[in-house]
Amino acid sequence: MRIPTVLSWLTYTFSLTQGFPFEEKRILQVSDSKLLTVTESQKLSLLKRGVRFFDVTKQQQISNTYISHRLDDPVVPEYKFPLTISHSEEVKSLTSEIDMKYMYEKLADFTSFYTRYYKSEYGLQAAEWLSSQIHEIVDVLPKDLVTVEHFDHHDWQQFSILVKFKGTTSPENIIVIGSHLDSINLLFPNWLPAPGADDNGSGTITNLEALRLLSEHISKTGNALNNTIEFHFYSAEEAGLLGSLDVFSSYAALNKKVVTMLQQDMTGFVSDKSKEHVGVIVDYTDVGLTTFIKTVIDNYLSIPYIETECGYACSDHGSATKNGYPGAFVIESEFKLTNKYIHSTMDTIDKISISHMAEHTKIVLGTVLELGQWDGF
Ligand code: BES
Ligand code: ZN
Repeated sequence: MRIPTVLSWLTYTFSLTQGFPFEEKRILQVSDSKLLTVTESQKLSLLKRGVRFFDVTKQQQISNTYISHRLDDPVVPEYKFPLTISHSEEVKSLTSEIDMKYMYEKLADFTSFYTRYYKSEYGLQAAEWLSSQIHEIVDVLPKDLVTVEHFDHHDWQQFSILVKFKGTTSPENIIVIGSHLDSINLLFPNWLPAPGADDNGSGTITNLEALRLLSEHISKTGNALNNTIEFHFYSAEEAGLLGSLDVFSSYAALNKKVVTMLQQDMTGFVSDKSKEHVGVIVDYTDVGLTTFIKTVIDNYLSIPYIETECGYACSDHGSATKNGYPGAFVIESEFKLTNKYIHSTMDTIDKISISHMAEHTKIVLGTVLELGQWDGF
């Protein structure tokens, strides 16, 4: 007869519950009307199976204590967005200065961290590195024009970074440009490398370059734009949009008025150079804002767009929508042609097209300069 060892008992328990019984429970929202309560290891199994969700553990705990158990999200107001562009010369002169050498070097540095997993020490170091790059860019500007904040998440170490260019005439109107800074190796997140070149080193550096050029623009003109522009670099997207949920639920609690959230996640992979295009996400996004983004693409990019879908809780724009803010998302291509190496050791820089990332930077700069000076919100 086999004598049960502690190890075999643990393995047995693990196989029964797909998680250790003493593990902390997580609450996941997998659709507009469905919550699941799972252990950490069950949560990882769901991620591996491609199930998408918001990890609303913190938000549910808050609402259980203070309000009631609720699933209904606030309605997103229908803001008026410009139907045409008005700052063509300004945008084109700025996009002509996109520096692909800088973008390549920064992506190489950012992907050289062993992983950017939100729970790992390397993940924290990567966030610190990114913050130092942002400081190098903005520290030449007067402190009243721009601030850099580390948004601490309390439950894990890797912080999100919020860079804020305060609007001159209507600072209450906030335009957010988002990207997630973390990466994940879905096989063994705690052990295996996760270079995350496309997911989402590409979106991070796309936005870093836009931030660099906006800073140069402001330094030349001596003025910020009319509306507030914020660049957000989120922690822990890969764990169920945890970082961006934390940020946007705190914004909603403070009654902040976010009029636009544009997400950049996976901007560097081109499957067929002869049919290069970007993918405009049309599900779980704001129709008015997305129509405006298409106008930006038509006017400022050298490649067309294709409409495509990404599904529920696909990236951080979902956290904006969930908190009553209009969200949009442009990805490297239509969904079926996106990079298949993500979430593995093979998501590396050699598969990345920097010129494609530069096209995404044009979307960001076009959006920032057009909406930053729009007085219709
Ligand atoms: N960048 C991906 C989203 C994505 C994946 C877009 C494939 C297009 C093609 C993002 O980082 C991600 O991995 N999202 C998760 C969902 C999240 C709630 C954990 C996913 O897709 O599984
Ligand atoms: Zn991912």
